[in-house]
Amino acid sequence: MTSTVSCADIITLATRDAVAFSGGPKYAIPTGRRDGLVSNNSDVDIPRASAPVQFISQFFANKGMTVEEMVVLLGPHSVGVAHCVSFQRMLLSFNGKHDPTMDPALDSKLVKVCNPKAGRVQVSPPSAFLDLNTSFIVDNEFYKQILLNRGVLQIDQELALDSSTKDFVSSFAVNGDKFQKSFADAMIKMGKIEILVGNDGEIRKTCRVFN
Ligand code: HEM
Repeated sequence: MTSTVSCADIITLATRDAVAFSGGPKYAIPTGRRDGLVSNNSDVDIPRASAPVQFISQFFANKGMTVEEMVVLLGPHSVGVAHCVSFQRMLLSFNGKHDPTMDPALDSKLVKVCNPKAGRVQVSPPSAFLDLNTSFIVDNEFYKQILLNRGVLQIDQELALDSSTKDFVSSFAVNGDKFQKSFADAMIKMGKIEILVGNDGEIRKTCRVFN
C-alpha cells in the first residue's frame, strides 16, 4: 500500500479546519510535507511569553517571517487559555507591585484565578482566557483587548506597546478583514518552513510512531 498523506499534512489541515470552524478565515493550504524521523520534546525551542518583543521578532525573522507576520500569527491568542504559570509573574500578588501596563481590573481578576487562597472553586490547573471578550472566536478582538491593556501574556501586551509592533496591532484592531486575510497568508507561509520533501523523512503509517 502506498502512503501519500503525511501526518504533518493531517495536522496542518486539521489546524486549518479548526481555524475555519472557530470563525477564522477559510484558506487552502498546500500539502506534500513528509513526516520527520526525529521527534524530541527537548528539540522544541520556542520563546517564552516573557521574552522581549525584539527577541521574539528575531526568532520569527530567523524563520523568514516579518514583524507584521509575527503580529498576525499571535492573533490566535484570540482563543484558548493560558495557565497561571504563563502569566502570574505580571500580577500584583506575585511581584508585590502592579504591572502598570495591565488593566487593574484584569490584574485583580487574574489574581483571584491564580491565588488558591481566594476561596473560589478552582479549575485545576487554573487558567484564564487569552481573549477576555470573544474567547472562542478567531477574530481581531485580541488586538482590541491588548490596546485596552487587557493582554494576559506579557508578549501579547508588549505587542501593543512596542514601537516596532504597535502600528500593526492598531491596523488589525480596526480592520477585521485585513486580519483574516493576513492571518491566512501567514499560516500558509509558516506551513512551508523547514518542511521535509522528496526522500527526506517518511510518511508515517501511524501518526504517533515512526514506521
Ligand atoms: C513566540 C510566539 C508565541 C509565544 C511566546 C506563545 C506563548 C503562548 C503561551 C505561554 C500560551 C499559554 C500556554 C499555557 O499556559 O497553557 C499560549 C497559548 C496559545 N497559543 Fe501561543 N505563543 C506564541 C505563538 C503562537 C502562534 C504562532 C499561534 C498560532 C498560530 C499560537 C496559538 C496559541 C493558542 C491557540 C493558545 C491557546 C492554547 C490552549 O487553549 O490550550 N501561539 N501561547
